[in-house]
Amino acid sequence: MKRKLRMGMVGGGKDAFIGAVHRIAAFMDGKIELVCGAFSIDPVISKESGEELFVSPDRVYATYEEMIAKEAQLPEGERMDFLTIVTPNFLHFGPAKLALENGFDVVVEKPMTVSLEEAKELQETVERTGRTLCLTHTYSGYPMIKQAKAMVKEGHFGKIRKIVVEYPQGWLSRLSEREGNAGAAWRADPKRSGKSLVMGDIGTHAAHLAEYVSGLRITEVCADLSTMVEGRLLDDDGSVLLRFEDKAKGVLMASQISAGEENAVRIRIYGEKGGLEWANEDPNNLIIKMLDQPRQLYRTGNAYAAPFTLSSFATHNTRIPAGHPEGLLESFANIYRNFALTVSAKREGKQPTPEMLDFPNVYDGVRGMAFIENVVNNNEGTEKWTKFVV
Ligand code: NAI
Repeated sequence: MKRKLRMGMVGGGKDAFIGAVHRIAAFMDGKIELVCGAFSIDPVISKESGEELFVSPDRVYATYEEMIAKEAQLPEGERMDFLTIVTPNFLHFGPAKLALENGFDVVVEKPMTVSLEEAKELQETVERTGRTLCLTHTYSGYPMIKQAKAMVKEGHFGKIRKIVVEYPQGWLSRLSEREGNAGAAWRADPKRSGKSLVMGDIGTHAAHLAEYVSGLRITEVCADLSTMVEGRLLDDDGSVLLRFEDKAKGVLMASQISAGEENAVRIRIYGEKGGLEWANEDPNNLIIKMLDQPRQLYRTGNAYAAPFTLSSFATHNTRIPAGHPEGLLESFANIYRNFALTVSAKREGKQPTPEMLDFPNVYDGVRGMAFIENVVNNNEGTEKWTKFVV
């Protein structure tokens, strides 16, 4: 493409959290510009947000329906190319479906929808329209996560036996939803959040990471969900025993009442010959633990000699030389860059490379929604283990 891709936004106004992170990530590589938005549920905040972001006032819209309808009528050289959706969970499906049906590509926050049924409908829409949908599972964009995935895939650890993934946070240790915290209020409301708070908000990140790095799919679950904070309407803590393809076993812990924790995502995977460990709070390190050998530390951005050479997926997603920290914003930007490269390649009639196509998509969104529903159903039922149904 000889120009930047034009982005529109639903949500992400002055009253929002993650929208601003999306803009930093989208702009990092100079491939994307913001041209329009319905930035807030409040039209005044939407207008003020548009002004602050230097968006032309005639392209700041009151609703996403108006935005999609009007943008679709603009000439090809002006209209937005894709829509980023950064609203509460219950407002993902509507704009995503409408945008796809009107010829726009989509970037949407997780969880992709609030039900598996909606998720499958989006999959059908993507397949029928041929458009691209990107789901922002943030942690999958890190170079050392790419390296971990590549090492598992090439058989470095032998057959995988055990996958342990954790996402503890502490920010919902109190009843914050009743104390004026808007982000907590919609997350803890079943109508706006979905069937599970903890699994929708962070458990899906952990489940995606486990399947992405291991290359194995979850086949059965045994779940225990709890509401630890009195008065809360949804769960805030969960432990899930997992069975994967190829007889691998796993444990997933997602918790928002782990008082004192920040965003302590961690994954450990063990095969017959050794294992790996990666943590979000130290993301440029990948610890490799092989049987009968000293531990090794792989670090982002190094030009190691064979047989330690970093994979093409790790280097493709690295921006600066070793020792200069890359973090969550760069990981997020990797997702946007790969999405932008894929959309541009498709528009030019070219086949995107595997590295370009390496971002979470509609199929990951369907698995994420299936994960939530399978865990909730298992927790409510009487069977110890239940099959993972999609
Ligand atoms: P937030 O509550 O801070 O912001 C929501 C925004 O959506 C606000 O600007 C609000 O005015 C706007 N909005 C609500 N209804 C709207 C409508 N009808 N039209 C236009 N705008 C509307 O929420 P937050 O924390 O930014 O989360 C948004 C989404 O991002 C959620 O689905 C959440 O799960 C996800 N998220 C993902 C993260 C990640 O690591 N990938 C991190 C944080 C959030």
